[in-house]
Amino acid sequence: MQKVAIKSLQPGMVIARNVFSTEGVLLLGSGTELNHSQIERLRQFGLTSLYIKNPFTDQMVDSDLIDTIPEVVREETRVQAVQAVHTAFQNIASTRRVDTREFKETAAFLTDEVIKNRGAMIHLTDIRSCDGYTFGHSVNVCVLSTLTGVKLGYSLPQLRELSLGALLHDTGKMLIPKEILVKPGPLTGEERKIMEQHPDYGFDILRRQSEIPLISSHVALQHHEKFDGSGYTRHMGGVTIHQYARIVAIADVYDALTSDRPYKEGTLPHEAYEVMLSLSNTHFDPVILRTFLSQIAIYPLDSIVRLNTGEIALVIKVIPGLQTRPVLKVLIDAEGHRQTDGPEIDLTKHLTTFIDKIFTPAEIICLKAHLT
Ligand SMILES: [Fe+2]
Repeated sequence: MQKVAIKSLQPGMVIARNVFSTEGVLLLGSGTELNHSQIERLRQFGLTSLYIKNPFTDQMVDSDLIDTIPEVVREETRVQAVQAVHTAFQNIASTRRVDTREFKETAAFLTDEVIKNRGAMIHLTDIRSCDGYTFGHSVNVCVLSTLTGVKLGYSLPQLRELSLGALLHDTGKMLIPKEILVKPGPLTGEERKIMEQHPDYGFDILRRQSEIPLISSHVALQHHEKFDGSGYTRHMGGVTIHQYARIVAIADVYDALTSDRPYKEGTLPHEAYEVMLSLSNTHFDPVILRTFLSQIAIYPLDSIVRLNTGEIALVIKVIPGLQTRPVLKVLIDAEGHRQTDGPEIDLTKHLTTFIDKIFTPAEIICLKAHLT
């Protein structure tokens, strides 16, 4: 399964996962072979990307070869959460009232499912429409933060507070003018100043809600603070920033980096991993960052990579904690010959073999076309 930007879709590609609108309406089902008019319809719905079947693994005889991609949260749960958050955030924008029950219930069912799937790693980033970005982002930040809380050994009450704070972290954005919020490109200095007020706006709304724990409201206030004190809005630093906000800050940046926007394609997981590491100590708490990154599959299942030996191979198994050394199956040998049943290479055992490239979805399609 490969995430492909809408602009790179081609007729004949096969959808690997159901495609929903922000309202939760099914637009196209898994298994659909795309044609021109469907691609145009998806573009009109404001979708930025979707999942297509990997043309290599689609034809593999042994379909059990690749581990089933384990999900931290099921697709139905995610769609339901995005819908709930969409409605509840729109209410804040129009009435400035927070439907506390809706947010609490959504945070609770996401937390329950993350706890149930605590062993799963993050292989896929979700897809979302341009105007639904904030809602999909809030749900994803909630899932990533809660999973990190689980890994840090939080109790259930702590996870509930963290997860609610993460879901509500961008509440203040509902008070930012829409033309700034959805501007397809970099903000001007003046626009940035307005945008950077959203943590204060959010805190101001949330702290008045007696049913929302004050600590969850502080997540909204502090999620743009940086570990070295160079963030906003209070220039807090180190452990004076609440631990929940230090977690959400990491999940927030990771999700923003890896998601597709109208003006940029998302960064691939291994690149995002490097970017995140480079911000350790300055932007992020290094201990929490290490825990967060331990749950990210740098080379997700079903990725296609090139090795320093010249072979091209498929990622078939990822071992938690050893994400840089996945198990692979050779698809094309070093001489450029297609292998129908190539050898498996366990990189934890082949210590002189390294991945030197990961193919983008567009490159995979070119590669496949070149071979046939
Ligand atoms: Fe934010």
